[in-house]
Formats: sequence, C-alpha cells, structure tokens
Amino acid sequence: MGVLRGLTIGIIGAGTMGQALLRGLLAQGIPRRALRVADANPQTRRLVERRFRLPVEADGREVARRSDLVILAVKPQQFPEAVPPLARHLTRPATTRGGGASRPLVVTIAAGITLRWLQVRLPGVPLVRVMPNLPATVGCGFAALAAGRTATRRHRAMARALFGAVGTVVELPERQLDAVTAVSGSGPAYVFYLARIWEEAARKLGLPRAAASEAVRRTLEGSVRLLLASGEPAEALIAKVASKGGTTEAALKVLARRRMPAQFAEALRAAARRSRELSSRYQIPIG
Ligand SMILES: NC(=O)c1ccc[n+]([C@@H]2O[C@H](COP(=O)([O-])OP(=O)(O)OC[C@H]3O[C@@H](n4cnc5c(N)ncnc54)[C@H](OP(=O)(O)O)[C@@H]3O)[C@@H](O)[C@H]2O)c1
Repeated sequence: MGVLRGLTIGIIGAGTMGQALLRGLLAQGIPRRALRVADANPQTRRLVERRFRLPVEADGREVARRSDLVILAVKPQQFPEAVPPLARHLTRPATTRGGGASRPLVVTIAAGITLRWLQVRLPGVPLVRVMPNLPATVGCGFAALAAGRTATRRHRAMARALFGAVGTVVELPERQLDAVTAVSGSGPAYVFYLARIWEEAARKLGLPRAAASEAVRRTLEGSVRLLLASGEPAEALIAKVASKGGTTEAALKVLARRRMPAQFAEALRAAARRSRELSSRYQIPIG
C-alpha cells in the first residue's frame, strides 16, 4: 500500500468494480482527497457520493488529467467511446509528487480489452491489464495482472497494491488472461450456480427454504475456509469426508457417472473461447 501513498488515484466508471476498489482503498487508509471518481450515470453518481462521501464527476477527462494512476472501470463495450476523449489527458506527464515526471499509469479491468488495443489509443502510456472478480466487493477478490511494455517495476507494484486492497493478486503473461477470465473472472458465477442447484436439491429432500439456504451457504463458507486454512489438496479433504461405502461416496459416484468433471472442463473451455473471441473484437485499431 505504501507505493500508493501520495498518489492521486482516479477511477473512471464507479459501478460494481469501481466501487469495490473505492471501498478497498478507503479501508486501507487512502484519504478521500487522494481519490477522484467519474461516472457517466447520474444515478450512480448520486449513490456513490452518498455511499462514499466524495464528489463524483460526470466527465472522466478531469479525473484523467489530475490522477497519477487511472483505473478504467467501464464496460468493455463502453471503451471505444470512453477512451479517445481521455487520450490527450493521459498522454501528458503526471502532475503530483508521487507520479514524478512520468505519465500516469492506466489500469484496465475490462474483459477482452487488450493491452495492444489500449497502446494504439494511448501511445507511450504505461498500462496494466487486470482481470479481477466479483468477491473484490467484499475485499476477498482474486485478480491476475499483466503489465504492458512501458510499465515499470514501480507501476506493477502500484497495480499489485491497488488490487491487494481488495484481495489476492498474481502476475501473469497477458496471453493467460483468457484462462484466468474463465477460471476466476467468471468463477464466482459457477459457485453461485452451484449454490442455486444445491439449494433446489436440498428443498427436494424436504428441507424448508430457509434451512436449505443456510445449510448450503454455511457449508460452502466452511469448506472454502477449511480448504484455504489446511493447505491440503482438495483430494485429501474429500477423503476426510467420504468413507468407504458411505453417504458421500454414494453422491460422488453419481457425479462421476454423470461426467461432472468433463462437463465442468467443457464449461471452462467455452468461457475461455468466448474471452478470446471478445478480445479479438478489440484487436483492430480504429481509423
Ligand atoms: N462485475 C464483474 O464481476 C467483473 C469481473 C471482472 C472484470 N470486470 C470488468 O470491470 C469493468 C466494470 O464492470 P462493472 O461490473 O463494474 O460495470 P458497471 O457496474 O456497469 O459499471 C460501469 C460504470 O461506468 C459508467 N460509465 C459508462 N461509460 C462511462 C464513461 N465514458 N465515463 C465514466 N463512466 C462511464 C457506467 O454508466 P452506465 O450505467 O450509464 O453505463 C457504469 O456506472 C468491466 O469492463 C468488466 O469487464 C467486471
């Protein structure tokens, strides 16, 4: 977090992810005066101003002009419209103490927006591309970052500190971000999907709705905590629950017979393929 002290941090797009970062930065003690936020949606602006007690601008240009680190947190399809007006302000030297004489660091979190796409529109600007995930909203996210060619070691440390404020961070080559998108970017939805079908199945066994929901959610929570705390491979923990000829084994046999592992692998391949397709949309420079 030290590397972010003294910097002005700008967030353009204060939706789900923008707000997760705001929350994390404030919780880490970054002062409100060091944060600048813009959002195009008047409703979101009002909500964020009330929730975080800081001003939110309608136009990202001023935020881009005044920040040492700019996070682009708008939807991928909004990038072609959102980025060109910012270019002039991002390709100038950073203004405040922490940024020195270098250009501001731009961090993009949009699925499918490649470093190449941004390099063409923001020539010479240090870039870091990040794939975060939704649990960042409760400070428990997982993010993978890939640095662009002009990003220095310090820029990478800045991006790591930023996402460290809302969870765990790893650094990977950009080509692996499609896999990361499939695994952890989309990952929370697989868990919510599992929770949904598990709750439905629990109800079919006769449990009342509230009990089914509590049983599933607490089991998920406890199991994940144990998985992390024990450091043991998942296989070893399965063996601790499933005794020979017992109830768990009966359930696991059904999942294996119904080819659950193959189906899950196929689902992840489909997500990674879709991520590659979306990225290829943003490969071609405009004009
Ligand atoms: N949510 C996830 O689980 C997740 C996971 C990984 C990565 N991401 C990435 O994170 C990014 C943000 O996602 P999100 O879920 O936070 O989206 P979101 O909730 O829709 O937030 C984006 C916000 O930016 C505003 N906006 C649009 N154009 C703008 C502009 N030119 N200047 C300033 N603000 C603008 C939007 O306003 P309007 O409402 O008027 O459009 C909206 O309030 C996306 O690129 C997504 O790919 C999200």
